[in-house]
Amino acid sequence: MTIVQALFLIDGPSRNICNKILTENFNLFSRVQGSSYNHQTWEGGYLDHITEVMNWAVVLYGAISRERTLPFSLSDALLVLFLHDIEKPWKYKLTLGNQLKIRTSLKSKEAQKEFRDKKLSEYGIVLSAEQENAMRYAEGENNDYTNLRRVMNELAGFCHICDILSARVFHNYPRRDMPGLGQAQRINGDLSNFHLPDLSLS
Ligand SMILES: [Fe+2]
Repeated sequence: MTIVQALFLIDGPSRNICNKILTENFNLFSRVQGSSYNHQTWEGGYLDHITEVMNWAVVLYGAISRERTLPFSLSDALLVLFLHDIEKPWKYKLTLGNQLKIRTSLKSKEAQKEFRDKKLSEYGIVLSAEQENAMRYAEGENNDYTNLRRVMNELAGFCHICDILSARVFHNYPRRDMPGLGQAQRINGDLSNFHLPDLSLS
């Protein structure tokens, strides 16, 4: 599924707003890496990462829903996943040695959250409390972990799974072989023909 097809599965006004964010920033988004070292570290890796996490959401939401009811919609997950790294295209700068460096102003998690919130309000995205929690914890609870209460909600947990699948399990996809970025073979990032084994919990 392409990123545009995935955006079509988002309900309400957010669908058009996300499309606008993608269209207006497409050139920037297609130049940025997924991260400086850990995943999708090639030009355009950012968009590849976002496309992958949204595809995993579609696959996993379908598979899990056959066994248990998830307390959020696929649209909720796709919206959060499309936006979960929205600060990244603006977060890095190229140094003279062509190294990707995080801008000092966007180094801390708090500064990144602030930038994200500003970007969302600039485009008029309004998140529910559940979506807000999932945006904050899509990459895990980190220092907010406590054994006194559950910090990450169910939607955040699901988005975290999709993010980890792309960022750690399939960190080289959709380019599977990476002898060097120049020779990397792009494989089909479309997961629509992906079939899970029968997972029925008999
Ligand atoms: Fe991510």
